[in-house]
Amino acid sequence: MFEKIVIFFMTGTGNSYKVAVWFSEVATALGLNTKKQQIKTEELHLEPDGKTLCVLTLPTHGFTAPWLLLKQIVSLPRGNGASGVVLPSRAGVRIKGVSLPGMEGTAGYLTAFLLFLKGYKIRGVMGVDMPSNWTALHWGLSKKNTQFIISAAEPKVKHFAKTILSGQVYFDGIVPLALGLWLAPISFMYLIMAQLILSKLFFASDKCVGCGLCANYCPKQAIIMTGKTRKRPYWTYSCDSCMACMNYCPYKAVEVSPIVAIIFYYLTTVPISTYLLSSIVTTPVAWLPINWDGIIQYIYILISVFLAYLLLHAALGWRLFSTILSKLSHTSYFRRYHAPDVNLKEFNKEKVDKYNF
Ligand SMILES: Cc1cc2nc3c(=O)[nH]c(=O)nc-3n(C[C@H](O)[C@H](O)[C@H](O)COP(=O)(O)O)c2cc1C
Ligand code: SF4
Ligand code: SF4
Repeated sequence: MFEKIVIFFMTGTGNSYKVAVWFSEVATALGLNTKKQQIKTEELHLEPDGKTLCVLTLPTHGFTAPWLLLKQIVSLPRGNGASGVVLPSRAGVRIKGVSLPGMEGTAGYLTAFLLFLKGYKIRGVMGVDMPSNWTALHWGLSKKNTQFIISAAEPKVKHFAKTILSGQVYFDGIVPLALGLWLAPISFMYLIMAQLILSKLFFASDKCVGCGLCANYCPKQAIIMTGKTRKRPYWTYSCDSCMACMNYCPYKAVEVSPIVAIIFYYLTTVPISTYLLSSIVTTPVAWLPINWDGIIQYIYILISVFLAYLLLHAALGWRLFSTILSKLSHTSYFRRYHAPDVNLKEFNKEKVDKYNF
């Protein structure tokens, strides 16, 4: 039925890459021509036709799909009779022997809908529980729990792949979709606001040796290495919070600071933006259906956080300050996580200039 299997994967810590590998193993075992390509900022290569199956694997962020993936789908070529399936991975956790599923919300079906609008026939959607990688919030899962979750996910993905490749369809995740639609305002706020602020909570501690690995392998090219004598990473607003830098830094130097989060909170809510801005902002054209207060507030938040982060970055050049900030950060005591046996360089190699099927 299919002759070309093109698997696009977006990944921060290797979970969605593993899902892509499992799908590709099934397809290759069936003798199908299969290619994988990492979703980064570069253009994706695809020449779809009626014999092409386009597989998308991605992490869930804020109960929906990450910006980078949404933007890349919009720029894919028209389906031209090709089919598509979507496999969002989500935060599976296991606490004291009890497994809890993640919640992909609209991640799978929104992606599938965009593919559909591009003219692809959607043949399947399924959320996959993989170990949660949001180590800015919690400890990285233990090896035992990681193995448990992954060994449950692999047969599920392979079964999905066999079903799809045999010509059948497979749709799962209707309950998460319903919840995702209900939580859509949160997803929207996450995409336009939270994600931007999250990037400004990252900093490199005194353990950073300036190797530049985080900047070189960031899928969004969101890190700039600054400094002449001592190079240090600076996180820009392009960051998608994929967690690759934090979890793959060989020196465990990437931290997230709750103190900075509290400063941002006061800077962007009370008292400045609430009282000062509300007194100076008046709706310039009252009859236009535009929330000027909201827009000015949004711009204020972005600019004030940007400037505060610049100051923070300058202060971090002082080793004593970065040591203290690091010691006061919960993440310096947290275990890191990435998919077992998946190293950053391995999935970054999955880059194909042109497909020769
Ligand atoms: C910023 C961020 C937001 C996340 N939001 C969700 C979420 O809303 N629901 C969920 O189930 N998992 C969520 N996760 C967990 C990841 O989707 C999950 O661990 C995924 O498997 C990571 O895949 P990757 O290693 O390919 O990036 C989030 C992770 C991060 C870093
Ligand atoms: S944060 Fe880590 S990966 Fe990035 S430059 Fe510093 S040591 Fe290297
Ligand atoms: S800066 Fe770090 S978390 Fe942000 S997109 Fe790049 S690698 Fe991912």
